[in-house]
Amino acid sequence: MLITSMFSHYAFFFSCFVGSLVSLSMAVDADESSTDDTPSNTIYLDPKASREARTEDLYSRLTQDEKIKLLAGTGFGIQPIERLSVPGVEMADAGQGVRGGNKTTEGPATLFASGMTMASTWNSTLLRKIGAAIGVEGLNKGTGVHIMLGPAVNITRAPLNGRNGEYMGEDPFLTAQSACEYILGMQNDANCLACIKHFACNNEEADRMWVDVNVSERTLHEIYLPAFETAVKKAHVRSVMSSYNQVNGFHASANKHLLTDILRDEWGFDGVVMSDWGGVHETKNTILSGNDLEMPDAKYLTSKNVKTALKNGDISQTDIDRNSRNIVRAIVDSCVLDGPHTPDHSRVGSPEHMELSYRAACEGIVLLKNQNNILPLDAKKIKTIALIGPAVKKMQYGAEGSPHVDPITETSPFDGIKSKLDSSVKINYVEIDAEEALNAARDADIAILCVNTLWTESEGVDRESMLLPGGQDALISAVASVNSHTVVALNNGAPVEMANWIENVDGVLETWLPGEEGGKALADILFGDINPSGKLPETLAFKREDYPDTPNFHTKTEPGSIEYAEGIYVGYRYFDKKNIKPLFPFGFGLSYTSFDYSDLRLSSQTLSPSGKVTVTVDVKNTGEREGAEVVQLYIRPIDPIMDRPIRELKGFVKLDLKPGEAKKATFALDARSFAHWDEVLSSWKVDDGAYAIEAAASSSDIRLSETVRATGVNVGD
Ligand code: BGC
Repeated sequence: MLITSMFSHYAFFFSCFVGSLVSLSMAVDADESSTDDTPSNTIYLDPKASREARTEDLYSRLTQDEKIKLLAGTGFGIQPIERLSVPGVEMADAGQGVRGGNKTTEGPATLFASGMTMASTWNSTLLRKIGAAIGVEGLNKGTGVHIMLGPAVNITRAPLNGRNGEYMGEDPFLTAQSACEYILGMQNDANCLACIKHFACNNEEADRMWVDVNVSERTLHEIYLPAFETAVKKAHVRSVMSSYNQVNGFHASANKHLLTDILRDEWGFDGVVMSDWGGVHETKNTILSGNDLEMPDAKYLTSKNVKTALKNGDISQTDIDRNSRNIVRAIVDSCVLDGPHTPDHSRVGSPEHMELSYRAACEGIVLLKNQNNILPLDAKKIKTIALIGPAVKKMQYGAEGSPHVDPITETSPFDGIKSKLDSSVKINYVEIDAEEALNAARDADIAILCVNTLWTESEGVDRESMLLPGGQDALISAVASVNSHTVVALNNGAPVEMANWIENVDGVLETWLPGEEGGKALADILFGDINPSGKLPETLAFKREDYPDTPNFHTKTEPGSIEYAEGIYVGYRYFDKKNIKPLFPFGFGLSYTSFDYSDLRLSSQTLSPSGKVTVTVDVKNTGEREGAEVVQLYIRPIDPIMDRPIRELKGFVKLDLKPGEAKKATFALDARSFAHWDEVLSSWKVDDGAYAIEAAASSSDIRLSETVRATGVNVGD
């Protein structure tokens, strides 16, 4: 797919490039041999040659020193091999847009919606386009980047985790599908490498370099690994970043079980594994485990350390060969060997990309409450509007820390809302002062509060509480006490507690971290130009203590371990099992129209040995506005013979429907949809028995159900 066949547009440059090789410096360490590097033999430079042939050819030319040097990066890149005219391969963070890497890529880029917001769209087609757009911006920003450090797919186990906004929610299936599309866009459409991260179980920031996650094999396979597995098997992701933390006693970057047994042997990954930045802690096990590349540079995988380890017999030549060959393959996978690339800077922040950013914000914003149909607002009826809160003029547009992108532009809610109103409308704006807010809201026709987590969410730091910081709960209550038409727009990456005020307000929108067009999208939803269609990728509980990680969330700064005692019961799996009512369930989101589900059909009432079954359901827009519905498919084992979640998401489709229009949602299930990880067999297994197939509007709103029977179903590979 990627690579060889796609490079015909480089053919012209290629001939010039080969020409330059004639003047190659052939300086090689005196005691090391190298093969003949005459241009006619340089298969590695031939875009038409196969990926493996190019890899083997380049690899066979490397001296031992060059192989070892490759094992560590250059800040944000793979080492160049000057002797063979192999340029360095540049990298940049790329979870919500392209951040600066090696200086060459600094500067603004389109800031798309964060991972959480993207997942909230449940729109696979859109995510693929965004992945491609970010890839295109990377290739064309500065001097060009070929490895995009994203998507980030750690499951949001704990609501206080500072990086939740970067990730794609609590459900392995939704995360896997979202990440898969994003990667396909980057790799197949834009033609650069995606790097899925952080492998694995980097679910909180406290003590992230050392914390040891104790997690069962079943929990790993069912909850924390599926996004990586799907990325490898379906999207053929070319690179993986190991995480900072330890997993069951070994750092992820020195964890043979994760990096070799599972990633390569179980799933067949054939790309490169790089460490997170500063995530390597030793030489021997890093190399043995299959962490090919130390980033950002050589701290443990220095030439000296590697040579000593080889001499001592801690590692073998085969280990060096294997890891450096994987890095060579990544060089081939990137386009750097296919001739000079002249970045087109006009592709960065292009109108098409801004439009995609806007679309993602529109589709990712979730309408949570709409009492008395307070929304959409009628601009004609507003004489005075109160706009209150710290996010009115400056939202948290994206996740912070390494994913931070300087946006091309920013549209604030203030600007977005103002543009909807006649110039005669009075706008009472207050940032955070409760007294002033009371006065501003008292006589307004409508009060809109834009509140946020005040930059308390970021890489490297977890939140201490799920409450809105800075007295914003009191601010909301004060405003609601004087104005019965109050709408709250939340701007945050992870859940906040709403119990203190939600009963007192009519409208609530979760805007997440919506990207640079967030204020425009919010205004368009408030005034009904856009019908909201986002659904929650994460359960929103009444209070922090309702979440399963509460007794096992690591807040210490000294090294320690965390027991993932809740096992597979993460997110709605836990709330369902324990019968804890959430404030808003996973998969929930309101629309300005309504949808009716009917005629759920299965292609068969019994599963064949392959487990394949096609499910269809008709969905009709029964309201008066055009809208989109995310139709969800859950599987519920009926009388399971072992401990299973009540139900699990196994399919979703987003349908655009005009008023009165009906469409069929179609889902293809297979054996894996019904399977659990069997720790005794070390494989997936489908138990014989009956399973309910549920068509749902959220994990708590099951509209229709049918039963299928499984006997002797095999999961295979
Ligand atoms: C983050 C990674 C990021 C890397 C490079 C690390 O601190 O954990 O997600 O890709 O830095 O910026």
